[in-house]
Amino acid sequence: MPELIPLLGKKEIEKRVIEIADAISSDYENDEPVFIGVLKGAFIFLSDLIRRLSISAKVDFLGVSSYGDATAPSERMRLTKDIGIDVKGRHVILVEDIVDTGRTLNHIIDHIRSFGPETVKICALIDKRERRETNVSIDYACHVVDKGFLVGYGLDFAEKYRNLPEIYRLT
Ligand code: PRP
Repeated sequence: MPELIPLLGKKEIEKRVIEIADAISSDYENDEPVFIGVLKGAFIFLSDLIRRLSISAKVDFLGVSSYGDATAPSERMRLTKDIGIDVKGRHVILVEDIVDTGRTLNHIIDHIRSFGPETVKICALIDKRERRETNVSIDYACHVVDKGFLVGYGLDFAEKYRNLPEIYRLT
């Protein structure tokens, strides 16, 4: 049976979400950025984050699947839902639950840039560097984690555990 080892509790998660929301609100004080959540994992983080903003914002989602039901990442990335908002000339903030190898984000950044936004920045709940293969730069990272397979707060294993309010290492 897999074991869940607690890593980040509700309070720790909430504290960083508020800090990142404050930083973004300050950086985009006179703008109305478009937040694009990367499905499915980012849906909980994004919904908490945008409710803490003190600026006006638009929200959309991009559906991407890269892992299937296994813990080992595959080479392919599948677009399951495209954005619906016109981001040409807009400031975009891509919101990820976790950046692992960085491959998904690299593909997504290229895809979003093809729509001609003014800027594209990255916000991630978890910056996990153990298996990083790209030099993608994360502008707003809530938590840096060195290793482990993480679940909870949107993160899944074979579609399970997304609903847990805390984050765990799965062993
Ligand atoms: C996860 C996560 C990122 C990606 C990170 O998505 O949400 O999009 O993997 O991995 P990488 O940095 O190695 O590319 P996943 O494909 O598991 O889909 P999900 O968001 O639906 O859980």
